[in-house]
Amino acid sequence: MFYLYLRPLKFELHPIQLKQKAIIEIMEGLVSSLFDVQSLPETYVLPPEIRPGELSFCPDESNNIPVLDLGGNDRNEIIQQIMKASQEFGFFQVINHGVSKELMDETRNVVKEFHAMPAKDKFLECSKDPNRNCKLYTSSEKYATEEVHYWRDCLMHSALSTEEYMQFWPANPTRYREVVGTYSNEVKQLGSRILKLISQGLQLSSGYFSGGLSTSPTILINHYPRCPEPSLTLGLPRHRDPSVITIILQDHVQGLQVFKDGEWITVEPLPHAFVVNIGYVLQIVSNDKLNGAEHRVVTNSSDARTTVSFFIYPSSESIIEPAKALVSACGDDPPRYRALKFKDFHVNFLSKSADAEAVHDFVSAKNI
Ligand code: OGA
Ligand code: NI
Repeated sequence: MFYLYLRPLKFELHPIQLKQKAIIEIMEGLVSSLFDVQSLPETYVLPPEIRPGELSFCPDESNNIPVLDLGGNDRNEIIQQIMKASQEFGFFQVINHGVSKELMDETRNVVKEFHAMPAKDKFLECSKDPNRNCKLYTSSEKYATEEVHYWRDCLMHSALSTEEYMQFWPANPTRYREVVGTYSNEVKQLGSRILKLISQGLQLSSGYFSGGLSTSPTILINHYPRCPEPSLTLGLPRHRDPSVITIILQDHVQGLQVFKDGEWITVEPLPHAFVVNIGYVLQIVSNDKLNGAEHRVVTNSSDARTTVSFFIYPSSESIIEPAKALVSACGDDPPRYRALKFKDFHVNFLSKSADAEAVHDFVSAKNI
């Protein structure tokens, strides 16, 4: 009798093969590569307590996110409206904001075209930056270590349209750099205008946010493909943004929801409005006079949704802390947060983002 001994063959992968293998694994992970699946892959099924459940998108007229007209002449009235909306919801929409409808439409088109490209081409466009400022990932930046995944693909890069950064932005679709570059410049200006109004509303100097607190804007192009089982998963979990403010361009599909008084309120898509939300950095600087709003993204089974989030970020070395003018030395309004370099806050925030209490413990003044 013959026995055939099969010795397991050991394959040593060459570094280039290892890199290709890693790219293929990530590509297979892109949710846009999964959109023909009939049921949700298990790694996207959330624990029951954070599942969105059956969703109905009936607008609640009494509890809508305020829509503010920035075209009016009464500056003080606009400031009052922004402050009220920021305190009540942490969110508002703006119309007559000065960014042209054509540019908003072109930006929507070009970012949709990007996400519609084959996964391989998307990765090629996003893997040239040695500093990884421009990158494509699925779910969250912690994909490899997170317990469950979220139904989102994201292209992230600096919103500074200088050659230093732009050379690493996608060169395809061919109009990407031109359109997103112009869009970034205009939204940056809109952001400074809104921050001036907010600083006046907080009674800070009008240039309070113009320096280091807003020098590193970043763009996130979020894509949420059609999802086979929207009740079991989310596009983004409940979170606050680690920004000063965020300016979001939605498309016509609902998905963004704000948490207020124990309820999730849908931010109605308005064709040429921007959605603005208060981020954690502004909550810290304002010493809780304004709150970083908690929000999430739900998915649906009929339409893909693509959004552009413009995060106004401080530079890494900027110190973020409650503005001196907003805390009183005599003790009735003490600083609620400790001073931190933005980069230390950000790294900690990203590692703990799902755990609001842990982030709060890290930034709280009690930890001085
Ligand atoms: C975000 C975010 C909302 C959306 O990018 O942090 O909350 O509707 N996006 O995509
Ligand atoms: Ni967000």
